[in-house]
Amino acid sequence: MLELERINEYISQVERSEKETFEPCSGKLKVGLDLGTAYIVLVVLDAENHPVACEKQAASVLRDGVVVDYVGACRIVRELKEKLEERLGRQLEECAIAMPAGTDSSLKTHIYVAESAGMQVIHVLDEPTAANTIYCVSEGVVVDIGGGTTGLAILKDGKVVQIEDEPTGGTHVTLVLAGSYQIPIAEAEAIKLDSSRHTEIFPVVKAVIEKMATIVKKYVSKDSVSAIYLCGGTCCLAGIESIFEKETGIPTYKPANPFLVTPTGIAMNCIQK
Ligand SMILES: Nc1ncnc2c1ncn2[C@@H]1O[C@H](COP(=O)(O)OP(=O)(O)OP(=O)(O)O)[C@@H](O)[C@H]1O
Ligand SMILES: [Mg+2]
Repeated sequence: MLELERINEYISQVERSEKETFEPCSGKLKVGLDLGTAYIVLVVLDAENHPVACEKQAASVLRDGVVVDYVGACRIVRELKEKLEERLGRQLEECAIAMPAGTDSSLKTHIYVAESAGMQVIHVLDEPTAANTIYCVSEGVVVDIGGGTTGLAILKDGKVVQIEDEPTGGTHVTLVLAGSYQIPIAEAEAIKLDSSRHTEIFPVVKAVIEKMATIVKKYVSKDSVSAIYLCGGTCCLAGIESIFEKETGIPTYKPANPFLVTPTGIAMNCIQK
């Protein structure tokens, strides 16, 4: 089971650190860089994992976990880092990054992006494993649905035994909405982000979410795992967990705000291993 109260409290503090800068305890700062298809996020925690500051920027410089606009990616990371350094009054020198499963060949590019902004990458992990640093589940499957991909990590006895990543995410939800309503993509994205319209759009986007659940069903069944734990921006969609439960037959859980889970989990792993 997810310790929802603890997770919700912790993530809401990370959310607050977008606007407010919290005093860190002594020691090194931990930085997580999430280079995503839809958002680039930098999360700063103190040495005891208390949220300190966070900056994010919507961006389309990656596709399916691979950097397609290197110069743009470097510029955004540099700008976000400068904003944080200004807020903190100190330099950020090291970070951790996460890769979707199956994109190892792009690792160097991700590292170069961080380095171009003046940060040394001291740890690299996969995205759903990063999320599980917060969830702390030892059995089940953690599913990270971002803008471009659905990634999953299967856990047994506290260890990640399999990771997978497939190209269906929030972008596809937006495209279906735009097509169905015959409206521009930007307008469809705005409707999707408005939680007061989630009930209305639910029937339209249901098939895309079912596709995401089918991806998970390819790798797990109700006999092989006891629960699905959702994270990633797309899981903000109201009712997504009920579709997963119906499609897979597996109990599905998500925190109040699944959006900042992975970038924060990346920051927690900013330690030399
Ligand atoms: N409140 C919301 N309701 C619905 N969708 C949302 C909400 N907030 C964000 N999203 C969607 O979540 C996606 C971004 O999520 P996230 O930041 O986890 O992705 P990413 O890490 O950039 O992408 P990826 O992991 O696929 O590379 C976008 O498609 C965005 O539209
Ligand atoms: Mg992501």
